[in-house]
Amino acid sequence: MFTIITGAQFGDEGKGKIVDVLGKDYDLVVRFQGGNNAGHTVIVGDDTYKLHLIPSGVLTDSRLLIGPGVVVDPIVLIQEIEMLRSAGIEITPEKLGIDAKASIIMPYHIEMDKLREQRRTKKIGTTARGIGFAYIDKISRDEVRLADLANRDAFPRLMDELAPQKERAIIDLGGDPGVVRGSISDYTGYGATLEPYITDVSHELNRALDSGRDVLAEGAQGAHLDIIHGTQKYVTSSSTVAGSACTYLGVGPTRVDHVIGIVKAYITRVGEGPLPTEDHGEIGETLRKAGAEFGTTTGRPRRCGWFDAPLARKSVELNAYTSIALTKLDVLDGLDPISICTGYELDGKLIEHPPILSSDLARCVPVYETMDGWCEDITSVDAFSDLPAAAKDYVHRIEEILGVGIGIVSIGPKRSQVLFVE
Ligand code: GDP
Ligand code: IMO
Ligand code: MG
Repeated sequence: MFTIITGAQFGDEGKGKIVDVLGKDYDLVVRFQGGNNAGHTVIVGDDTYKLHLIPSGVLTDSRLLIGPGVVVDPIVLIQEIEMLRSAGIEITPEKLGIDAKASIIMPYHIEMDKLREQRRTKKIGTTARGIGFAYIDKISRDEVRLADLANRDAFPRLMDELAPQKERAIIDLGGDPGVVRGSISDYTGYGATLEPYITDVSHELNRALDSGRDVLAEGAQGAHLDIIHGTQKYVTSSSTVAGSACTYLGVGPTRVDHVIGIVKAYITRVGEGPLPTEDHGEIGETLRKAGAEFGTTTGRPRRCGWFDAPLARKSVELNAYTSIALTKLDVLDGLDPISICTGYELDGKLIEHPPILSSDLARCVPVYETMDGWCEDITSVDAFSDLPAAAKDYVHRIEEILGVGIGIVSIGPKRSQVLFVE
């Protein structure tokens, strides 16, 4: 069985939690894109794990893989392995494999990301982790792959070739070119540390599927941050939609069995870009507070608003979900009435599908319907049938809007706070 999980909105939908919940049923859990711009939170008992590169199946017995489409900051990865070790979780090469072709985020990528963002007249609000510039180097074929980093002889030669180009680029952006060669010897050490983990992810996955084993592909970010289909230019630099899991992992599309969309019961966004239902007043503040909506990676407050049906419908088109996990329903406890944006008004017309251009999306005025809220605390409900009637109605309304069955409802951050819908 091959299942792909992706975020259906702008990231932070609760992918980490759902991957942790489902991971125990899979032999392999694999990250397929993005880098440490991602922040996936897994809470089990009293322990909280904030993961940026290690797949969120880490607390299960599954083998973990990082695919060749991921951009890897070796410092962050090694720190994360250490963090898990100090929590009693050993990340051995039997537990984790990283593709030889994964692109390495070098210090100059991070520097260029920061410098470029400072100079932009219209900011993107990147996470400043060097993601975009690492992907630029992959596309321009000037990347450093994990295999290069781990090759003690070839790595210095590759850096000699790349360094003048990177130094010039940093000078052009008004920065200090010293960052390019400053820590090369440290990187040789990181290569040696990560070398035992190197594997061929595509081959491992295809062999696993051939022998009837189960694979869960864990997406990062969300559909509307997709480099091609998202709200350009306010997007990340990788493809975040389900189809890209096949491309990035080297697994053919005919092998896909399930595509699960993670949908938050409202909407959030961190960084710049259009968010039609963003609420700058009391509702936004209430959602931020109740949902603890602060970035896992950068700590920035997330922008919050009511559920946006046009964006959700587009996400269903982009991903062809076979089922949905609806998260953070508990955050709506006590809000009455609850609004759902069912369409937009743009230039005097009512539309139900988002316009193509971000500049037009930014001008859309949401049109809302309202539903009754519920006053109960739902965080310790044991079965979907025990939810207050108004909460069940809300779930069914979202299901109707999406046209896809909701199989899981999440009612709190912990692993145990999850309801399976018959
Ligand atoms: P991801 O990037 O999609 O993995 O999501 P993040 O981990 O960045 O952000 C989701 C946040 O919501 C985390 O702090 C989770 O612990 C938390 N969370 C996940 N599911 C739920 C839920 O159903 N209810 C509540 N209250 N919090 C949740
Ligand atoms: P997870 O996996 C939310 C946003 C950034 C910025 C834009 C581009 O935790 O859902 P980048 O650093 O990627 O060049 O920034 O994308 N962004 C995310 N927002 N969740 C994420 O990941 C994100 N990863 C990137 O805030 O607006
Ligand atoms: Mg996150």
